[in-house]
This record gives sequence, structure tokens and C-alpha cells, in this order.
Amino acid sequence: MKNIVVLTGAGMSAESGIATFRDANGLWEGHDVMEVASPKGFYNNPELVLDFYNQRRAQLKSVSPNKGHFNLQKLEEYFNMTIITQNVDDLHERAGSSSVLHLHGELRKVRSTKNEILVYNWEEDLVLGDLCEENAQLRPHIVWFGEEVPMIDKAISLVEKADVLVVIGTSMQVYPAAGLVNYIKPKTPIYVIDPNPMVGETDFDNLTIFKTGAGEGTEKLLDCFL
Ligand code: OAD
Repeated sequence: MKNIVVLTGAGMSAESGIATFRDANGLWEGHDVMEVASPKGFYNNPELVLDFYNQRRAQLKSVSPNKGHFNLQKLEEYFNMTIITQNVDDLHERAGSSSVLHLHGELRKVRSTKNEILVYNWEEDLVLGDLCEENAQLRPHIVWFGEEVPMIDKAISLVEKADVLVVIGTSMQVYPAAGLVNYIKPKTPIYVIDPNPMVGETDFDNLTIFKTGAGEGTEKLLDCFL
């Protein structure tokens, strides 16, 4: 069975109603990204940051996977599929995808500020005073700017084994995620689905671009593969 690796970004969830990052001039739901997605931002104003992620976590209850998420799930019947997502939502899982690696963390988890291996499932609001079992404050289980990306080595080894790479809805601006595409085997076919793609047909050998949204683009992908 062929290995398909799919790298997804914020555009994957746009049709579910979750705002992308760079389409809004670097603002994330009205906030400077560094204010809400960096250790310094958390240090300066922990309540603002916790509240920001509380709103994002609560938003998950009112959104649903879109056609793009479901189309990717359909491919699982025919291929050995892995999704590497930069998204912190759980929409791939809710569409039924069974192998999802979250590079930038997950909204529905929190972790200790003292011991990063203490990670907990978390459905409700997280506030100052919510502590881990070692009595340290809990924080969102999100990889903020300036922090290590613990899953990157696993992601690299998956991309190295890909027979096909599909890239959906990412501006390829944030490293190390954006560098993953450089780990493909020579001549591996790459499919990019994005209404405003950051790459051109000549940037890689064997590149196909569907200049469209995730729902329509994944329909085309199914037409190509099934
Ligand atoms: P961006 O907001 O940078 O890029 C979103 C991409 O989605 C753009 O290329 C858009 O053209 C595309 N897009 C918009 N609507 C789409 C649709 N309906 N279907 C498909 N694509 C669409 O988001 P990311 O590249 O994911 O990190 O951003 C990477 C990281 O930067 C995020 O994971 C986040 C952010 O800061 C953290 O939170 C740690």
C-alpha cells in the first residue's frame, strides 16, 4: 500500500469557520500573534493568553469538520495515510482520520509549566490556579513561537517515507514545519491545495497545484487517486 503523507495548515479548517493566521495581517482573532502565542506573551499577561485559548477551545464545540477533512478520511481505505497538521483543532480526528500528528499541539490538551511530560485532556476553561500534580500552573498544550517542536523528528521520518506528499492550506511561512517538504525522496509527487499557493509549478519536480479551497481541492485529489 502506498504511503500518503498530508501536511495541513490553517486553510484546511477555514471552510469550517476557523480563521487562518496570515489572511488577517498577522492578527489572530484580533490579537498580535506574539501576544497570544509566545512564552513572553504568557509571562506578560497569562490571563489574556489563557482566556484566548479558552475561547479557541470553546469554539471547537460550535464547528464541524468540512468536506476536505472527510475526503482525506476516505483516502484511508485505499492508502497508508498520515496527516501531519499544524492545526491545534481536532477536526481531522472528528472526521475519522486515524493517524494525525499535531506538530503545534492541541487545544483540547493542557500541560504543566514545570514538567512538560505532564499533559492532560482538558475540555473546559483553564484559569490561573489550575495546577498539575506537581502543583505547577497548567498552560495550553500549544507550541508557541520560540519553543521547540517536539514532534518534528517524527514528522521528518514520515515525510522521508512518503510515496506522495499532499500540502493543504498552509502559507509555508513557519519553520520547521515549512521545511518538511524538503525531506521527500527525489521525484516524489507533491500536490498542493490552496487558493493562494505559496509555491509555483516550477519550484519542485513533479508538483501539481490545485488553486482552490480544501473541499474542492480534495475532491480533485480523490479523482486523481481513486
Ligand atoms: P496561515 O494562515 O499562515 O496560512 C493559511 C493558508 O491557507 C494560506 O496559504 C491561505 O491561502 C490558505 N487558505 C485560505 N483559505 C483556504 C481554504 N478554504 N482551503 C485551503 N487553503 C486555504 O496558516 P498556517 O500556514 O497553518 O502556529 O500557519 C502556520 C502556523 O502559524 C500555525 O500553525 C500557527 C501560526 O502562527 C502556532 O499557533 C504555533
